[in-house]
Amino acid sequence: MQLITTISDIRDHLANARQRHQRIALVPTMGNLHEGHLTLVREARRHADVVVASIFVNPTQFGPNEDYDRYPRTLENDRQQLADNGCDLLFAPTAKEIYPNGLENLTRVHVPAVSEGLCAGSRPTHFDGVSSVVSILFHIIWPDVALFGKKDYQQLAVIRKMVSDLHMPITIVGIDTVRDARGLALSSRNGYLASEERQQAALIRQRLNEIADSMRQSGDVECALIAGRQRLESDGFTLDYLECRDVNLAPISSDARELVLLVAVWLGATRLIDNLEVTLTSVVA
Ligand code: PAF
Repeated sequence: MQLITTISDIRDHLANARQRHQRIALVPTMGNLHEGHLTLVREARRHADVVVASIFVNPTQFGPNEDYDRYPRTLENDRQQLADNGCDLLFAPTAKEIYPNGLENLTRVHVPAVSEGLCAGSRPTHFDGVSSVVSILFHIIWPDVALFGKKDYQQLAVIRKMVSDLHMPITIVGIDTVRDARGLALSSRNGYLASEERQQAALIRQRLNEIADSMRQSGDVECALIAGRQRLESDGFTLDYLECRDVNLAPISSDARELVLLVAVWLGATRLIDNLEVTLTSVVA
């Protein structure tokens, strides 16, 4: 696997691949890789001849009081894991390479509606940072296919809409969340948790399953959400949100059956998100 840090080098490499009519897959990441990312890389191989992973801790998607400075940078370890999992090219540019004109007055991509609410309630600039940097990466690499984890459900919805609205000829593939043995969704931020906090964090999945069961039995989404919020708070989480939307993240209509529960909680100083897709047979409006 080759490590490439400049836009001109990665473009040269990929121009050769394209001349040979090879399909290109991109797995965009911020590094500190875990099994969730590596699953995306292995899955990418099923869609393409050339698998590219990017590692770029993107400053524009972090709010002023967030963890940009302390976000774990583990390039050597990541590089080894990518090589072991069949990645062909690692694109790991500097911030100067991606943002040569600095961050002020930067052109941004805003994806309306789906970028609002849920995580954007407490991270108002986050999704503009994500859609903008993913758009930059797509313009550099022009993959045929790009893979994202469903753990970041809202992010995946934002990227799908951006690609559709901007007519980018890129197939977006969402991959199921990878979990530890207790059900905790793998996340680079789990590294911030102490071992007893990790144990507690595994309750999030359990509570989502309970809320989904209650919704399926009663068809009463609002009632299940109210009980779920209380339960999470009595478990010791500080709730950011617990909501139910349709699978495109629109508010649920009375005939919607394919739904998704989305949650964000604080555990100490660490913010954790998770979600669960739920199919209902009936809904109480
Ligand atoms: O999910 C992530 O790791 C990031 O948000 C992404 C998609 C790589 C953009 O920086």
